[in-house]
Amino acid sequence: MTIAPSRPAEGARVTGPGSGPTGTTDDRPPDRAVVLLHDVTKAYPNGNIALREVDLLVPEGDFVFLVGPSGAGKSTLIKLLIRDELATKGKVLVDGQDLAHLRRRHIPKVRRKIGIVFQDFKLLQTKSVWENVAFALEVTGTPGRQIRPAVDRVLALVGLSAQARQTPAQLSGGEQQRTAIARALVHDPRIIIADEPTGNLDPLISWEIIQLLLRINELGVTVLMATHNAEVVTALRKRVVALEEGRIVRDEVGGAYHRED
Ligand SMILES: Nc1ncnc2c1ncn2[C@@H]1O[C@H](COP(=O)(O)OP(=O)(O)OP(=O)(O)O)[C@@H](O)[C@H]1O
Ligand SMILES: [Mg+2]
Repeated sequence: MTIAPSRPAEGARVTGPGSGPTGTTDDRPPDRAVVLLHDVTKAYPNGNIALREVDLLVPEGDFVFLVGPSGAGKSTLIKLLIRDELATKGKVLVDGQDLAHLRRRHIPKVRRKIGIVFQDFKLLQTKSVWENVAFALEVTGTPGRQIRPAVDRVLALVGLSAQARQTPAQLSGGEQQRTAIARALVHDPRIIIADEPTGNLDPLISWEIIQLLLRINELGVTVLMATHNAEVVTALRKRVVALEEGRIVRDEVGGAYHRED
């Protein structure tokens, strides 16, 4: 899926449980799982069991909030998806590929299918906004002539073209997070995974970031976002997956944030 700002939203297949029925009966293939966890348990080396027998399917086009109390396993689930950690038991598939059985040389290719956004932005302080985004392409060996148009395109999409030459220290928190989102998008990923992306931002700026993620989702990119932001989760009525002590205790379309989350 190309994330050109001019691309019409109808290019996206949004038939996941978070999106509701489209009302059409065309001959499109059944929903593709961008993320599939089957019977996943994660035990850390010190014996902590962070996930227990988790089953989760995220179809293409979905927008999913991952909620749950501190320590419930949200970040661990995300770490499994980016292969920062391996499951102790069960299967983790991203875009149909089993992460446990990837050859080392295929890991970068699968990683590029995922755009990751963190609470603390993780920008390179000595580089400009433009260079931070370009760097993500440079390190993966993208030919130079493709870099400029790709970076310009995602900076326009997140509304940062005018700030392209500024460094992170010269940006607001919201602008820093939009830079991180541009960097996550520049590989044209199938899914954006965000671990508490609004955790360091005030409520108004948090809403701007959420609106941006919703727009990206409308362009066809699947979004999975771990959050404690009750107001946002309850207002948007998207799919809500709740973890508690490593288990999925709720998976609800049009869900709200509950007190125990
Ligand atoms: N590297 C690690 N080694 C051992 N235990 C860990 C490790 N990382 C996380 N844990 C444990 O796994 C459990 C789940 O942690 P995780 O960070 O996934 O929770 P979380 O839902 O993201 O919490 P929060 O909302 O506070 O970010 C916790 O009990 C935590 O202490
Ligand atoms: Mg966490």
